[in-house]
Amino acid sequence: MSLLRSSVLRPQLLSSARAFSASVARRQAVPTEKPELNKEFKIYRWNPDEPAKKPMLQSYTIDLNQCGPMILDALIKIKNEIDPTLTFRRSCREGICGSCAMNINGQNTLACLCRIERDDGKDTKVYPLPHMYIVKDLVADLTLFYKQYKSIEPYLQNDNPPANREFLQSIEDRKKLDGLYECILCACCSTSCPSYWWNQDEYLGPATLMAAYRWMADSRDSYGAQRKEKLQNELSLYRCHTIFNCSRTCPKGLNPAAAIAKIKLDLATE
Ligand code: SF4
Ligand code: SF4
Ligand code: FES
Repeated sequence: MSLLRSSVLRPQLLSSARAFSASVARRQAVPTEKPELNKEFKIYRWNPDEPAKKPMLQSYTIDLNQCGPMILDALIKIKNEIDPTLTFRRSCREGICGSCAMNINGQNTLACLCRIERDDGKDTKVYPLPHMYIVKDLVADLTLFYKQYKSIEPYLQNDNPPANREFLQSIEDRKKLDGLYECILCACCSTSCPSYWWNQDEYLGPATLMAAYRWMADSRDSYGAQRKEKLQNELSLYRCHTIFNCSRTCPKGLNPAAAIAKIKLDLATE
């Protein structure tokens, strides 16, 4: 009985399934076109191969409905479809490598983490990181920044590491590194710091100082005294006037100004 019923029902099921898939196909065949949503981007341009030409802002307009949501998506679209000479750094596209740092609408940030404002009716201005030498267009020269970072010896130093086993750390000591080790060295903070703008040759700047504190705070490192000694001068550290631009701009939500304050406290109370 049940066999008979199923053989009777099957053709009906088949035909309704066909009707359903045909209606789905009909619906899919008519894509809904989004209307154009044009936005103007004004982007800093400077080419070292044309030194007589002054830097300028070049305007590009793109349809945001044909573009990803982030500023980096817009830059990639402009480069791919409008102007292949536009030059900028990028790699990971997810806020990890730090290479797409630039100044967007007046704020230092990562282009891959910065959303395009879609409906404000205004243009978006994109400049390289401020107060830096420029390699080309949006690419700042970070040679000095990396040299300063190297100068604080950013690695674990201990003359008596444990033999034949892992270098252990308590949960509490490990926690002291939170908010420090996550720095991706994008340089947004240092290039937003007025003290760094004017004293770049001597003042180490917030990114490098936070890295220095990261190693001072590490229970496994035994070179704290030497690290502090290096900072005990008028310029390397004390040019920080606690203005907090650095912490306000950090795209990773870190607080380099607090790290600098802790170094000053350590030096003052030892
Ligand atoms: S502290 Fe923040 S802004 Fe500064 S270099 Fe690190 S990630 Fe970038
Ligand atoms: S708090 Fe110090 S490091 Fe940060 S922006 Fe101000 S002066 Fe620069
Ligand atoms: S592309 Fe790596 S942080 Fe933006």
